[in-house]
Amino acid sequence: MRIDGSTRIVGVFGYPIKHTASPPMHNAAFRALNLNWVYLPFEVRPDMLESAVKAIGALNIQGMNVTIPHKRGVLQFMDGLSPEAEFIGAVNTIINKNGKLVGHNTDGEGFIRALKEENILPTEKNILILGAGGASYGISRQLFLEGAKKIEIANRTFKKAEDLKRQLIQYFPSGNVEIFPLEAPYLESAMRRVDILINATSVGMKPDEHPIVREEWLDSPFDAVVDLIYNPPLTPLLKIAKEKGLKVINGLSMLLHQGALSFKLWTGREAPLEVMREELYNQFKM
Ligand code: ATR
Repeated sequence: MRIDGSTRIVGVFGYPIKHTASPPMHNAAFRALNLNWVYLPFEVRPDMLESAVKAIGALNIQGMNVTIPHKRGVLQFMDGLSPEAEFIGAVNTIINKNGKLVGHNTDGEGFIRALKEENILPTEKNILILGAGGASYGISRQLFLEGAKKIEIANRTFKKAEDLKRQLIQYFPSGNVEIFPLEAPYLESAMRRVDILINATSVGMKPDEHPIVREEWLDSPFDAVVDLIYNPPLTPLLKIAKEKGLKVINGLSMLLHQGALSFKLWTGREAPLEVMREELYNQFKM
């Protein structure tokens, strides 16, 4: 890679940032398209977030990804927001448009692309989402835009499921949303009626952590079982679902597609998806 006076800079703000998988993926894409761009990791302490965002404009940086714990924090420093970022209340991609910073969120669309790539179409489907955090906002909105028939949401903290339902109904007045606590009797019956199961909680990140749903509930004929977690790429939930012959989709493909969408927002060019996939999957030995 040759850095010179014309090299354009993008990157990612996070804290910590050491474990980010994005720089190799984006830098491989720039190389493949022969673009004089570079993607850098930035460790931004929470108390330095405002200065860091201002530096994007000051240093004429083209754009930035934003990851944990800053996705919500950067909102207040944006000059404008995309409809997705506004709905989710979080930004994962910033574009610097002539000094004006616009916040986007490619998580929901990235998620749908990961599904479609596996020939899973949410249209007219019943879907169960476990979790009501930031990720659930992005995917539930996108699922309704794709014509999902019904979305059921279960969350440990019931109040957060209520908040998400209220917001979904506000944006999709005819949307069919059901919420319930994350408890066995509700979950068991929901598992019998839905077509797609999505884990949007962090349960499954720790090794040998038991999935929220019981193994025998996965005997139903699901179209797909999806886990938004990408590390490990095969969570205990996906492992069980796979053993039962179900189609499984992991968080890595979502990470790939949200990255490809950010790439397009910054460069205006279609991302070289296969180059990015290889670079990303190599990091996880998949
Ligand atoms: P994200 O932005 O990735 O969605 P988040 O907003 O922190 O992250 O949300 C994490 C989700 O995982 C929440 O739905 C959380 O449930 P609570 O709202 O009750 O906190 C869920 N979660 C985390 N640990 C959990 C656990 N041990 N059991 C059940 N749900 C859990």
